[in-house]
Amino acid sequence: MNNIDEFRQYAHELVDWMANYLENIESYPVKSQVQPGDIYSSLPDNAPVQGEPFDQIFSDFKQLIIPGITHWQSPNFFAYFPANSSLPSVLGEMLTATLGAQCMLWETSPAAAELEEKCMEWIKEMLALPAHFIGHLQDTASTATLCAILTAREKQTDFKINQRGFKSNHYRVYCSTQTHSSIEKATKIAGIGRENVVQIEVDEDLRLKPEALIDAIEKDIEEGKQPTCVVATLGTTGTTAIDPLRPIANICKKYTIWLHVDAALAGTALILPEFRWMNDGLEEADSFVFNPHKWMLTNFDCTAYYVKDKDTLLRTFSILPEYLKTQQQGLVNDYRDWGIPLGRRFRALKLWFVIRSFGIEGIQNIIRNHITIAQKLSVEIAAHPNFEVLTPTVLNLICFRYIHKKMLTPKTINAFNQKVLEKVNASGKAYMTHTKINGRFAIRLVVGQANTTEQHARNAWKLVEHFAMECL
Ligand SMILES: Cc1ncc(COP(=O)(O)O)c(C=O)c1O
Repeated sequence: MNNIDEFRQYAHELVDWMANYLENIESYPVKSQVQPGDIYSSLPDNAPVQGEPFDQIFSDFKQLIIPGITHWQSPNFFAYFPANSSLPSVLGEMLTATLGAQCMLWETSPAAAELEEKCMEWIKEMLALPAHFIGHLQDTASTATLCAILTAREKQTDFKINQRGFKSNHYRVYCSTQTHSSIEKATKIAGIGRENVVQIEVDEDLRLKPEALIDAIEKDIEEGKQPTCVVATLGTTGTTAIDPLRPIANICKKYTIWLHVDAALAGTALILPEFRWMNDGLEEADSFVFNPHKWMLTNFDCTAYYVKDKDTLLRTFSILPEYLKTQQQGLVNDYRDWGIPLGRRFRALKLWFVIRSFGIEGIQNIIRNHITIAQKLSVEIAAHPNFEVLTPTVLNLICFRYIHKKMLTPKTINAFNQKVLEKVNASGKAYMTHTKINGRFAIRLVVGQANTTEQHARNAWKLVEHFAMECL
């Protein structure tokens, strides 16, 4: 395609397809039903030498690509944590792609830098985050956590590892046994090493035990190791357990340890005043991450990362070759200095569209509704004679399983529930994933897609019941 009239024609056609897709999304199997290699083998071995007509490309998109897509925006998507989107967010992405701006420096698009700064201030207020936090956008929570661990490492070593590299390694990172794998990954990349991740025991509701954290820190100090960073999670991936921030923050303060708070999913729930108990103690944290791209209606990728001390962050990441020097340096935010990549997408635009379109109340209504649906359904599931809810439904995730007197061992119960889950997902009618809780296989049902109603969630549970009966 090389002329603007053709672009206009196909863009209109695509928007019609997009609207029809979203309108009819429930007619697609939620989880893609293709087998490994199906898509790969349907594609030609070599790239085309001559350009092809867009009609042909678009037709192949519909026929070859769509069957291999899992429909994350379906209201019957209950798997993982959501990566929800919304109509204003999609429109924002269209404009971002059209502008194609690379927003590494203020000068390379001042509006991108300043809109980002403003959106981060809005969100700080929307979630009642501590006033002294300063935020910016990153791609993922994994990257933000890596930034936190790198900054903690540099603070601990007075910026010497950046300068000279490692001489010896006794740096220790603490998190609960339930923490997301991105923490371990970050320690590998940061040169701290996965052996220096100390997994702290949890209580019966899978929250980090502060006393066990103190014991681990004191043992490390005695052995000459250097406690460097604690990662507390608000909303663990397996079960949305909420680590007790206040006592953890007090411990970090006492031993002068960096406190990073991973609120990837649950951060969005802070928009509801009734869930702000979760952030008690947050003002003591050094860094905080949550993903608007999970539950706040904004297309992947969009991650909000806040720090208490901007200077330490910048000292960790800034680097200034001649070609990046500008006249405004020091007067404006050059976000390339705030994280790992140099190049940056204009992520704030879609976020701005979302916040303005829904308003704070609009977002609150959606989030509150998801939590209410999950909590009501959790009570219903728990009341069923053959179902068991395995952890408290604190937010929008229900962890449950089917049990029956015919199932005699923990192994048979696990195998049975795994089989039921496979059948649910193969039906294409709903998509859920699983976790293991103290060895018990749990089906995870997350109510988080923007258009999911109580009926969708109940149907999903009924589907589990249906396949459980079939498997008996
Ligand atoms: C608690 C927690 N932290 C971090 C992540 C990683 O998120 P991202 O995909 O943005 O790196 C997840 C993903 O589900 C998560 O649940």
